[in-house]
Amino acid sequence: PRPILLTRHGESRDNVRGRIGGDTALSESGELYAKKLANFVEKRLKSERTASIWTSTLQRTILTASPIIGFPKIQWRALDEINAGVCDGMTYEEIKKNMPDEYESRKKDKLRYRYPRGESYLDVIQRLEPVIIELERQRGPVVVISHQAVLRALYAYFADKPLNEIPHIAVPLHTIIEIKMGVRGVQEKSSESHR
Ligand code: F6P
Repeated sequence: PRPILLTRHGESRDNVRGRIGGDTALSESGELYAKKLANFVEKRLKSERTASIWTSTLQRTILTASPIIGFPKIQWRALDEINAGVCDGMTYEEIKKNMPDEYESRKKDKLRYRYPRGESYLDVIQRLEPVIIELERQRGPVVVISHQAVLRALYAYFADKPLNEIPHIAVPLHTIIEIKMGVRGVQEKSSESHR
């Protein structure tokens, strides 16, 4: 069976400050994760000739992929984090304080809630369709380095989770989720030894 490895980027400077969205570089701990991930990927996919590394177009995923050598890398805009629109760059506390109605609407229906001038989870799920088609079409393993909301949606697709659960699935930083394609039902294992 062909492995698909899913991981979030290494911790970013915005993650440290609790700010959503943005396009910051990695923190020190994020850079350390990028090195550990590269070691893991090089060992895990050593004999795989057709493996590829997919990132979003945001620098935190590109920087996380940068220590990995020997595999082609592809950037997908469809793997970019959920667009938080007018809330981009804010903390959850700031949204709660300055835009309490938005905060409440999102809390009530996180799946369908669309940030003003941004996206909802349903929007993200829809834009991932070409990525999923391509993942299924690939012959070799793929390492997907992306973001929390996007990986919730991708993981849910392969693990067959109901729509309403998607925005609440735990996808921690510095963790690799391995999915085996071509196995009935999808086998998965989560590896947290990289924290
Ligand atoms: O905080 C990291 C982050 O990737 C943000 O950029 C993004 O808005 C958020 O997670 C998505 O998670 P949630 O839908 O739970 O706010």
